[in-house]
Amino acid sequence: MLNRSYLTCLLVLTLVFSPLSFANTVSGSNGVVTSRSQLASDVGVEILQQGGNAIDAAVAVGFALAVTHPSAGNIGGGGFMVIKLDDGTVVTQDHREKAPGAAFPDMFLDATGDVDRRKSLYSAQAAGVPGSVAGMLDALQRYGSMSRQAVMAPAIRLAEQGFPLTPDMAGDFARVADSMSGYPASTAIFTNNGQPWQAGDIWVQSDLAESLKRISEQGKDGFYRGRTADLLVAEMRRLGGMITHEDLQAYDVKWREAISGSYRGYDIWSMPPPSSGGALVVQMLNMLEPYDLEALGWGTANTIHLMVEAQRRAYADRAEHMGDPDFYPVPLAMLTDKDYARERFSDFNPEQASDSEDIGAGTWPAESTETTHYSVMDKDGIAVSVTTTLNLGYGNRIVVPGAGFLLNNEMDDFSAKPGAPNAYGLLGDEANKIEAGKRMLSSMTPTIVTRDGETVLVTGSPGGSTIINTVFQVILNTLDHGMNIDQAVAAPRIHHQWQPDIVRYEPDAFVEGALETLERMGHTEMRPGGYGIGDANSILVRDGVMHATSDPRNDGGAAAY
Ligand code: DON
Repeated sequence: MLNRSYLTCLLVLTLVFSPLSFANTVSGSNGVVTSRSQLASDVGVEILQQGGNAIDAAVAVGFALAVTHPSAGNIGGGGFMVIKLDDGTVVTQDHREKAPGAAFPDMFLDATGDVDRRKSLYSAQAAGVPGSVAGMLDALQRYGSMSRQAVMAPAIRLAEQGFPLTPDMAGDFARVADSMSGYPASTAIFTNNGQPWQAGDIWVQSDLAESLKRISEQGKDGFYRGRTADLLVAEMRRLGGMITHEDLQAYDVKWREAISGSYRGYDIWSMPPPSSGGALVVQMLNMLEPYDLEALGWGTANTIHLMVEAQRRAYADRAEHMGDPDFYPVPLAMLTDKDYARERFSDFNPEQASDSEDIGAGTWPAESTETTHYSVMDKDGIAVSVTTTLNLGYGNRIVVPGAGFLLNNEMDDFSAKPGAPNAYGLLGDEANKIEAGKRMLSSMTPTIVTRDGETVLVTGSPGGSTIINTVFQVILNTLDHGMNIDQAVAAPRIHHQWQPDIVRYEPDAFVEGALETLERMGHTEMRPGGYGIGDANSILVRDGVMHATSDPRNDGGAAAY
């Protein structure tokens, strides 16, 4: 592995990232947890130490994140979970939000037929029927070993007793406060009596604690029926939202067959539709497998050119073919087939960038990492990879009065109108149109890589459309470029999504001269951005030791024992 390209890469990473990259990596032989919140990761290890398995710990982390990382951790949103069990079986769980029964295709179009983005993102109608609570409880019931009360106790404690706000959280709350001003229940939580919260203030969430207690005591009914459901539906009625008691009671978790692929002798397990992530990662890996990326080197023009051309083709397929498989026949076998990928890549020109059609139809997403990914692994090799979200940070900004939790704005992930980009500039059509009871297409890509049945990598990320490419690059960095987990996660990332035909990149994403070479090859729209693509809290197993890192782009934390 110690060839020239690897050494170059190590040098670049060491020079560029030494202040950041090795800050939060821990190793353990009994279990590891990494998430966007150190408090939540500590909760995971607390559960493992009590004898819980990785599923118990993951559920505890999920509920804890709803308290300690409220911009994305949630009980009012949804997500996806990939689990590798101790016998090697991989299962996936879809607890994505669903469109309410009253939803219809044109619901976000204004009188002139344009998409009303304010309505699709910042209104009660933006909220899909939440799935997180049903998902976490179902996973616990099937594969956990501890009681609901035991795994929820830390989250309830954190909400009830509070915890000191970090500078990161206090700053974030201050930034978002204005956008919540129309919702008194939101400002009651995210401001200190109308004033900004300060770092070090103890932040207590009493209503949320009560909501969590109802779930702890009554299970699914403690959220989807009874007082919490009444409060949520009352707020919907007050604000003209659509979610009804019937929608809540009808919410169902789906266990789906994992997307599986292979790459250089490793097995890739990831999320099937309604997430596009797993299929796209497998498709891109299939396209690149014939090329020796290790020899080509990390960050070189040739490697980036290959990656961008794979991204361009895979994201074009996403827009055309992907949606909720319960409503639309997604051609999954085709999308993940190695021959299809080779055929799709047969027009690849090693010297020249290809053109995306209809350049400019999309827009770039604002920088944001407001979904969250956490990875958990225990001593028996059970691995849990979960990505969860309210969609944009703090969702639709509406806290359910009396219930203390934010609602999602996931309805914007549908294609509100053919050819109209969503908040991430993603396009869609028939496959992802709004329909009652349908799940909106996602990019969330919780992923597990195994070799001979043993877990090698547990990864995933927030970042809207960039999620898939972040996971793709963590896989390439570990499997092709031989990086350890902190290097693989810290390494600067690039992103291309077919349309708009732009390569976005983080600082120092290329070796010297590569950017100019890529421009000469026809990648003319190269757009620098901050060090902020993704937040890939990941685990890598090397020589039998679990190494967990929290992405240095954000203020997360890993824990081990
Ligand atoms: O499901 C999806 O693909 C999006 N709702 C994820 C949103 C996200 O990652 C926000 N972070 N930038």
